[in-house]
Amino acid sequence: MTVTKFVFTRPWMYEKQRKAFFNNQRYSWIEGSTKSGKTVACIAWLFEQAIQGKPGWNYLWIAPIYPQAKIAFRRFKRGLPDEIWKANEAELFLTLANGATIWFKGGDNPDSIYGEDYHAAVIDEASRCKDEVWTAVRSTLTATQGPVRAIGNVKGRGNFHYRMCRLAEGGAPNMSYHKITAIDAVAGGIVPQEEIDDARRQLPDHVFRELYLAEPAEDGNNPFGFSNIKACIGDMSDEPPVVIGVDLAESVDWTVAVGLDRQMRVCGVDRFQLPWPQTKQRLADLIRKTPALVDQTGVGKPVVADLQTVLSDVEGFQFTQSSKQELMGLLVVEIQQHRVSYPEGVISQELEVFEYEHTRTGVRYTAPQGYHDDAVCALALACKAYRDRFPLLSAAIAPAEILRVSPWLGGNFEFGD
Ligand SMILES: Nc1ncnc2c1ncn2[C@@H]1O[C@H](COP(=O)(O)OP(=O)(O)OP(=O)(O)O)[C@@H](O)[C@H]1O
Ligand SMILES: [Mg+2]
Repeated sequence: MTVTKFVFTRPWMYEKQRKAFFNNQRYSWIEGSTKSGKTVACIAWLFEQAIQGKPGWNYLWIAPIYPQAKIAFRRFKRGLPDEIWKANEAELFLTLANGATIWFKGGDNPDSIYGEDYHAAVIDEASRCKDEVWTAVRSTLTATQGPVRAIGNVKGRGNFHYRMCRLAEGGAPNMSYHKITAIDAVAGGIVPQEEIDDARRQLPDHVFRELYLAEPAEDGNNPFGFSNIKACIGDMSDEPPVVIGVDLAESVDWTVAVGLDRQMRVCGVDRFQLPWPQTKQRLADLIRKTPALVDQTGVGKPVVADLQTVLSDVEGFQFTQSSKQELMGLLVVEIQQHRVSYPEGVISQELEVFEYEHTRTGVRYTAPQGYHDDAVCALALACKAYRDRFPLLSAAIAPAEILRVSPWLGGNFEFGD
């Protein structure tokens, strides 16, 4: 590379797009409509940072998954004159004529972010990145005090982008908050109005609002409802469990056991990752004579069988698409009726990010990519065990509410003594 002088003209941007990125705050947290020019602005900003850097300085581009980082890498190469960069295709970085390097990484592997200190970072599609991504990015900017631009669609509330945007919006130091809606993008002249009208006609209202207007849906795709999840938070009970639900770890997940006392309050949560022999031992010690409903999907099958040889009251539960749907349906009712209670922590956090999706085959309940739902599953299993064991008790607690939930039971139900 023999470039010695280089004149950079910042590409034209509409005002909101420019202000969101090119401002003098260290952090910009930006909620943007789809197709509002988020990625274009990220590219312009990061390049402008890097071209002002020194030999050996590093700059970071993060996308939610590695293939998306590759797309950005290609867009950079296409957009810059060939004489000013050299690419390393295998490790996905660009070295600029001034000796600065821009790295492209996928948030699906947060560990890969550590290692270098970066002088500036972009997190594109930040609302689709795992929490660990932000932890990693933040720590690699400590030595340099480098600036960050993080942008994404609004996508529920269970992600670091949403939380940081709220902090920034609330005036946290060194931060600025920006919101770019489809209306701004139309006014800026980069999206035709007809495109937005078409999307509004085709998408469910809450989806359109999130994607195009950057407004979080009240409950988004959360089947429980945020206010219900909150209403069920209570102290950890110190009474003994009457049932235990156990979700076993398949591979990278956690094994979680949740105990419910006789009033359906969580009285114990055990969450661990251990090899199978220790997992079995730990569960056997924990469950003892308490009735337990244990995940027996896949690798769980022999575990449940072994537990049954030493414990008197263990039942297996096979997770399938439809059985999970049915199980989560039960939990939805318990939570919406505020029947179950749990302490703030892993259970309430997993409930908050839990989602449902409409698919061709029906509703699919799951945690978004990168999040766990083991504690939700364990709680749901415990609730099912409770209902299976104490059908009369549950009827006796609040018959009117049960009737409301299951109107088809109507006429056949006799209450009172
Ligand atoms: N300032 C601009 N001037 C002209 N065209 C622009 C500008 N900003 C963005 N565009 C064009 O708008 C389109 C969308 O831009 P971009 O991919 O950056 O949007 P995005 O918000 O990242 O979209 P997505 O929601 O797909 O991630 C692209 O075709 C891009 O070239
Ligand atoms: Mg984009």
